Amino acid sequence: MRRAVLELVSPLVGLWLLLCSWGCPGNAEPRSPPEKIAIIGAGIGGTSAAYILRQKFGKDVKIDVFEREEVGGRLATLTVQGEDYEAGGSIIHPLNLHMKRFVKDLGLSALQVSGGLVGVYDGKTLVFEESSWFIINMIKLIWRYGFQPLRMHMWVEDLLGKFMRIYRYQSHEYAFSSVEKLLHAAGGDEFLGLLNRTLLEALQKAGFSEKFLNEMIAPVMRVNYGQSTGLNAFVGAVSLSGGDSGLWAVEGGNKLVCSGLLQASKSNLISGSVVYIEEKTKTKQTGYPTTMYEVVYQIGSETRSDFYDIVLVAAPLNRKMSNITFLNFDPPIEEFHQNYEHIVTTLVKGELNASVFGSRAIDNFGLGMVLTTDNSDLFINSLGMPSSVKKKENLQPSTDGTFVWKMFSPETLTKAQILKLFLSYDYAVKKPWLAYPHYEPPEKCPSIILHDRLYYINGMECAASAMEMSAIAAYNAALLAYHRWNGHTDMIDQDGLYEKLKTEL
Ligand SMILES: Cc1cc2nc3c(=O)[nH]c(=O)nc-3n(C[C@H](O)[C@H](O)[C@H](O)COP(=O)(O)OP(=O)(O)OC[C@H]3O[C@@H](n4cnc5c(N)ncnc54)[C@H](O)[C@@H]3O)c2cc1C
Ligand SMILES: *[C@@H]1O[C@H](CO)[C@@H](O)[C@H](O)[C@H]1NC(C)=O
Ligand SMILES: *[C@@H]1O[C@H](CO)[C@@H](O)[C@H](O)[C@H]1NC(C)=O
Ligand SMILES: *[C@@H]1O[C@H](CO)[C@@H](O)[C@H](O)[C@H]1NC(C)=O
Repeated sequence: MRRAVLELVSPLVGLWLLLCSWGCPGNAEPRSPPEKIAIIGAGIGGTSAAYILRQKFGKDVKIDVFEREEVGGRLATLTVQGEDYEAGGSIIHPLNLHMKRFVKDLGLSALQVSGGLVGVYDGKTLVFEESSWFIINMIKLIWRYGFQPLRMHMWVEDLLGKFMRIYRYQSHEYAFSSVEKLLHAAGGDEFLGLLNRTLLEALQKAGFSEKFLNEMIAPVMRVNYGQSTGLNAFVGAVSLSGGDSGLWAVEGGNKLVCSGLLQASKSNLISGSVVYIEEKTKTKQTGYPTTMYEVVYQIGSETRSDFYDIVLVAAPLNRKMSNITFLNFDPPIEEFHQNYEHIVTTLVKGELNASVFGSRAIDNFGLGMVLTTDNSDLFINSLGMPSSVKKKENLQPSTDGTFVWKMFSPETLTKAQILKLFLSYDYAVKKPWLAYPHYEPPEKCPSIILHDRLYYINGMECAASAMEMSAIAAYNAALLAYHRWNGHTDMIDQDGLYEKLKTEL
């Protein structure tokens, strides 16, 4: 369709170009690519941005990626007796198409993730225990909750179907200038409405029962986002989609995607901490004064700086996390105050005291995952038996009969607390995170365009924080930076894209 229209107007464009060779305003000629781009943060957001920017701008642009800790960011592993386990982002949905493509492009492999049987603990007893028999599960679920689990599944799948439209827009290279516009293009007012309401409100209104919300929904929010059903309904739906089948992770660790993308994008990794970004006017070789961004960073105690045409911030902007100061911007760049949830991942190798969770016999604890309700009054949000990042047939206890367990908790676990759950343990490692935003609808999402050529990727986390969300936000920011550099305004914030692309094959 578009091609036909282009052919029709091309003689006119030719004429216009001819006339314009005597000096026309605007951007008729393709502009030469930028010289230097800075990306701050080498998590999945920053490294996927580097990958896409390289594809768009070509081989000549210099891309610097700043990272003050480890490549991978919130994707990291912890080691217990020679085996690595995911400590941060671990599970990927089968319809996370960017993650899927990265893994394929980079020649990595996927591991199927099967969490084992799930139980829900309410502080006294296991109110629900999954069975390994499909039929028994169905009967148990229907007995306790009627058709609510099925209805819930349909609600999530319907939203997921709309969400998938984003991939279509991005494959046609359309970009959006705000998180709200991107979400609106996919799911209309319904999606924006989800950001305005708590999951609890949305589901109560849809007629789900108190019991189902307390026993099934709240525990899923606690394990995935460390908070209750007061989070926004959009992230609630993302969290519930983690109940789908076909979940996977990257063999060797999800962080391999980040290092792989960094390498494939031929970017230059700078192991330093960015402290300031300043807007400055600089005279380039061409003689024209241009606005550039000076990025000031520290390597150890040494302070260095460099100038960039385009900067993408791929880390949460707040004082406790990236702690970047924007100097001399006019108008000034607003401070964001999004609060991130403190979550500690603890891996323990030991023998669980199964009777903590009720009256079951110790040697008959068949569950691979214990979720907790809000009123369980326990010091952990969840307890699960993770598989290591290596390919393996089945979960095997080590020779002494103990397993590795993974717990999420709001605070660091004390030895006494660990001993409340385990009869004995011989190994414990932990990693504290500022893990994901504390959600409190109505959510107001930060801007993507902070300044002319300064972009912010992690504002997307206001809607939902997940690997794929960062990849989608990075893809969008890279396309946006590219189109704005080249003056392709027709590729930004287009209305009615869904209808438009339906007719285009
Ligand atoms: C415990 C936990 C469990 C999770 N589970 C899942 C899951 O199962 N599935 C899922 O999809 N998602 C999950 N997530 C969320 C997912 O991990 C994140 O959404 C995603 O990894 C964020 O990637 P990012 O690149 O946007 O940010 P980050 O990974 O945080 O990357 C930002 C990087 O920027 C660096 N940086 C910050 N400031 C500066 C500075 N001033 N100078 C230089 N460098 C700087 C940081 O060191 C960091 O490496 C989980 C997260 C946690 C913590
Ligand atoms: C969401 O809430 C804001 C204010 O809280 C309001 O301006 C906006 O119209 C609401 N959007 C939707 C789609 O309900
Ligand atoms: C943020 O950086 C400033 C210096 O730029 C420093 O004084 C301050 O202590 C930092 N804040 C945090 C929370 O690390
Ligand atoms: C196991 O937990 C139960 C319930 O908390 C407790 O009564 C029991 O003493 C524990 N067993 C051991 C050996 O610590």
